[in-house]
Amino acid sequence: MAGHTDNQSAVVRELARLKRPLGMRRLLSWVLFVGVLGVFLGLPGVASLRAAWAPFLAEPAQEARVLAARPDPQKPPDYIEASTASAWHLADQTDHAYPPPTAAGLDRVWNPGPLSAAHAPWSDDCKICHSTPFKRVQDADCLGCHKLIHAHVDPDRIDVPALAARCASCHQEHRGSFALAEQNRHAVGSDCADCHSEIRTHYPETRTRPVSDFADAHPQFRVQLRHDNGKRGFQRVRLPEKGMLKEATTLKFPHDVHLKRSGVRGPAGKQHMKCADCHAPDADGVSFQPVTMAAHCQSCHALKMEPALSNREVPHGPVPAVLDTLREFYVFVATTGTVPREPGPLTDTVLVRRPGESRAPRVFATAAGDAHSRASASAIELFEKTACVVCHDVKRLAGKGKPDTPGADLPQWKIAPVPKAHGFMPKALFAHSAHSTASCETCHAARTSDHAEEVLMPGIKTCRDCHAGSSPAPDKVASDCGLCHGFHWPGTTVHAAVPGSVEGNPQ
Ligand code: HEC
Ligand code: HEC
Ligand code: HEC
Ligand code: HEC
Ligand code: HEC
Ligand code: HEC
Ligand code: HEC
Ligand code: HEC
Ligand code: HEC
Ligand code: HEC
Repeated sequence: MAGHTDNQSAVVRELARLKRPLGMRRLLSWVLFVGVLGVFLGLPGVASLRAAWAPFLAEPAQEARVLAARPDPQKPPDYIEASTASAWHLADQTDHAYPPPTAAGLDRVWNPGPLSAAHAPWSDDCKICHSTPFKRVQDADCLGCHKLIHAHVDPDRIDVPALAARCASCHQEHRGSFALAEQNRHAVGSDCADCHSEIRTHYPETRTRPVSDFADAHPQFRVQLRHDNGKRGFQRVRLPEKGMLKEATTLKFPHDVHLKRSGVRGPAGKQHMKCADCHAPDADGVSFQPVTMAAHCQSCHALKMEPALSNREVPHGPVPAVLDTLREFYVFVATTGTVPREPGPLTDTVLVRRPGESRAPRVFATAAGDAHSRASASAIELFEKTACVVCHDVKRLAGKGKPDTPGADLPQWKIAPVPKAHGFMPKALFAHSAHSTASCETCHAARTSDHAEEVLMPGIKTCRDCHAGSSPAPDKVASDCGLCHGFHWPGTTVHAAVPGSVEGNPQ
């Protein structure tokens, strides 16, 4: 019973206490509330609306500013020519007026989460993206820096409303330091397959086949090849299920002869050539440096004027330079009666045997006739039998050469221009460096190729040995579209300079 009375009196005491005026405590709560409101809403709000109102908080008011360029934010893609390279930046921060930052970065307190690593430098400068307070991020905010980002397809040519999404609907911020890079590897926002699995409903005219997953619903690749009808530019041709595509070229080069397991004759005996002897990776490891006569062929296919007597070579290059050298050489031989040679031993020459042809090296320096006839005979031998014709499409021309050059009165030839190397799969992001553990022959049947015309590009089956689709598979790399494809392609202006770009397809 006693406990009951105690409880009652405690309740009475508590009621009495509550009835007393709050006095200082209510005031304190209000002060605290207003204080918190002021610090986290009022002050940053005022500061962000009018940086000038907070001069006592560090930085003075600023005009809209133009940022300095950060040093080369991203190297231009290798397929962009030097002339346009300077225009290609992932982010170019110049020439755009940004609103002044909030004084002392007070608006930081509203940060809903860490910015991506790429944008971390602006963690204290919310207005760089949120230019207008209390408004969603605008595309213009992003485009101030990302000036050259292109649409997925040329909007003037292909009207697909679903593609007109806001930048921020795909690139979501405040999700952690690596969020954007990670998002980029996958389909972000609107899924690639949502659209590409039924691409014709979005764009009926397309010649692109439907795609929904790399593992089992992705078409065989198309490769980009030079037109075969003499037209400039490129066409895209789908790889056949069996056999090989051909691409016309004027350079003769059979891989098989040079890659024979038993070796190939070189100046110092049999040589076992490897792919790397001719194909050196380029600076970023994506593709390869050009193969050249001087660096990769000439050690064996020397251009000797006098196969048996001299280790002197004619220059490799324009026809007049070759003819001038020959003419001057035989004039010298005729006037001095000596055959000048370079210091050092005579090197062996690889002579390419042609069926039914005698291969005894011919000597012109001591042959009957004058300098002109010796030079002519030697030129014919070089251009049409032992040297140029081995690798080039060579045509004898009627008439004389360039006036006032030593070789003008010799027979004349035309060497068909050698086409430059080009990319084969411009719509994908294939990098050789990511595949350096695989042997070249996993993907290129070069060892058995007997013509330079053969297109040695691998089909999708080869890739599927190692690449699964979006869902993981044992011993395979799970491969979302973003692993192999970009989304924003260099578009109409930059793309025009891409060697090997497909005409009429600005995608
Ligand atoms: C690199 C650009 C960038 C910077 C810098 C940036 N934000 Fe954001 N912020 C975004 C994007 C993008 C969204 C998502 C907007 C959307 O979906 O409309 C976002 C969303 C928000 C949101 C959620 C409201 C909304 O619109 O969804 C808040 C709050 C926010 N940001 C505050 C900040 C603050 C505070 C800072 C400075 C510390 C800041 N942001 C810096 C890009 C940025
Ligand atoms: C003040 C300039 C600036 C603004 C504004 C800006 N960015 Fe960036 N952005 C950059 C820089 C710099 C990089 C990093 C470039 C690099 O590291 O190569 C970058 C990188 C990116 C990347 C690549 C990230 C990655 O890790 O692969 C994406 C995507 C991106 N920004 C999207 C946006 C979007 C969307 C907006 C608008 C909400 C935006 N940016 C606003 C400067 C800016
Ligand atoms: C809203 C629809 C849509 C979305 C989403 C979309 N695309 Fe596309 N894509 C297109 C259209 C339209 C084309 C142009 C086809 C043409 O040129 O005929 C195209 C072209 C392409 C091409 C070139 C095809 C060719 O043969 O020239 C590739 C590769 C590609 N998209 C990959 C992607 C990837 C990867 C994603 C996701 C990151 C994606 N697309 C998201 C509509 C879309
Ligand atoms: C003696 C030098 C040499 C060696 C060794 C060599 N290549 Fe080549 N390769 C060339 C030349 C020259 C070309 C350009 C010919 C042309 O126009 O197609 C070429 C072109 C190629 C191409 C592109 C041609 C196409 O149309 O598809 C591939 C792929 C290639 N080589 C792979 C290899 C591989 C793999 C090896 C090793 C197994 C190898 N090469 C060894 C000289 C060489
Ligand atoms: C290691 C020495 C060596 C190198 C380097 C070399 N070749 Fe050869 N090449 C040979 C030999 C030896 C033959 C003759 C093979 C035969 O007759 O069986 C030959 C034959 C050829 C043939 C004629 C093939 C035929 O049978 O019709 C061509 C064309 C050719 N080479 C082009 C090139 C080109 C182009 C390069 C540089 C990219 C090159 N070679 C580099 C040694 C070499
Ligand atoms: C063993 C093969 C080989 C022989 C022999 C050879 N060339 Fe070449 N030539 C090449 C290769 C490979 C290229 C392309 C790469 C380069 O310029 O080095 C080329 C390029 C050229 C070019 C430039 C063509 C262009 O479109 O820019 C000229 C001109 C030329 N050669 C002339 C000659 C002449 C003249 C001879 C004979 C004296 C000769 N070549 C012998 C392999 C050869
Ligand atoms: C393992 C790499 C890889 C993956 C993963 C991949 N692709 Fe491809 N895709 C390629 C290559 C390589 C090509 C041929 C590139 C070219 O034509 O220049 C290609 C071609 C295409 C084309 C052109 C089709 C045509 O008719 O020629 C489209 C569209 C495309 N891919 C969309 C996608 C989409 C959407 C996904 C995700 C579902 C995807 N790809 C996943 C490598 C890949
Ligand atoms: C996993 C498959 C794979 C492997 C392994 C591989 N390649 Fe390739 N290679 C490709 C593809 C795909 C392309 C077409 C890329 C493009 O043009 O976009 C290509 C293109 C090429 C080209 C022509 C492109 C150019 O720029 O001239 C050469 C040459 C070449 N590869 C040589 C090699 C050599 C040498 C090796 C070994 C060191 C090798 N490749 C290993 C898949 C492979
Ligand atoms: C021998 C196995 C193998 C083959 C064959 C192969 N890949 Fe890969 N590929 C890989 C591995 C492993 C990676 C690294 C995955 C990663 O970085 O997450 C990779 C990465 C890639 C990447 C991303 C490269 C990067 O820079 O991150 C692309 C694109 C790609 N492969 C395309 C292809 C295409 C197209 C083919 C067929 C022509 C092919 N691969 C064939 C094993 C292979
Ligand atoms: C439909 C989704 C989508 C929209 C909308 C979109 N992007 Fe992207 N963006 C991507 C994907 C996917 C990638 C990664 C593939 C790539 O590198 O192209 C990417 C990559 C980027 C990159 C990095 C490029 C690089 O080379 O690494 C930047 C910067 C970028 N986007 C900026 C923007 C800007 C600015 C806008 C608005 C004008 C925008 N994006 C709109 C999907 C989108």
